[in-house]
Amino acid sequence: MIRFAALADLQYGDLDETIGRTYRASIEKFLLSVGEISCADVPFILNLGDSWQSDWSNALAMRELFKVAETHAGIAWRHVLGNHDFHVAKEKKSQVYDLLGLEKPGYYDFTVMDPEDATNRWRFLVLNGNEISTYAAETPAERKLAEEARERWKLSNGKLPAEWNGLISTAQLEWLERKLQASDESGENVAVCSHFPLYAKSKSLDSDRTRLASLVNLDVYYFNLGISTWNGSELLAILDRHSCVKAYLAGHLHEGSYGVRNNVAHITFKGVVETPENCYAYVELQKNAIIVDGRFAQPSYRYEFA
Ligand SMILES: [Fe+2]
Repeated sequence: MIRFAALADLQYGDLDETIGRTYRASIEKFLLSVGEISCADVPFILNLGDSWQSDWSNALAMRELFKVAETHAGIAWRHVLGNHDFHVAKEKKSQVYDLLGLEKPGYYDFTVMDPEDATNRWRFLVLNGNEISTYAAETPAERKLAEEARERWKLSNGKLPAEWNGLISTAQLEWLERKLQASDESGENVAVCSHFPLYAKSKSLDSDRTRLASLVNLDVYYFNLGISTWNGSELLAILDRHSCVKAYLAGHLHEGSYGVRNNVAHITFKGVVETPENCYAYVELQKNAIIVDGRFAQPSYRYEFA
């Protein structure tokens, strides 16, 4: 059996609550989750990004917490970079990768094998959706590149997509395409992970803003709404070309969501910072299924691949 734990959007900060986000409470929720997960014997926790709200001091506090969990509870981390992770002083932005044990440009892959079934093998392709963005830019030239990209990916209503998302570079898309090609050939399943979600069925959305859409269960493409990866349509087109892709795991939009499209389960995990009763999940990967066992406010899902 392959079973790991997942959580998203801790957004810790030594800051007062705003818009339903209780930044300080994330530490208590983190410790509770990690304590429970440490008893579950999982190989890693997938942290889907936005570990802190802002500021280097909060980033350092989270680094210490990740270390404590590693040292004292035996937790291994697989970090995904989120937009808030780059909300630090300009001179600190280049250090964000290292603080999370990553190397720039921040995308990577790893595989997980089922110890009881050699044919159940999964590859995780972890994207950096912040790669080209105004907030992760380290130089004026990088910032200009991001501003131009945002302009190029204007929405159909003429508005610019939200600045707190970013663009996945051509180099990263090519890397993804090469990796997916190899996985198609080797017959392994793939879970693509990014901080930024692509797709959901509107019925799965747990939010006042989406109540009307939920009545008719619409397809929701987050990038068309300007609230996710600017070139999400390009990313989705690549996923569509590869039958190895079975799951797309994300965070970012704290209400969470779920939807199956083209035999891929799109799972957006609820954000810890905005979920008073806490949230995390265990995820089981089978050769022909993905099962999300949600804890606290995190819903559970099960999808069997066609
Ligand atoms: Fe985010």
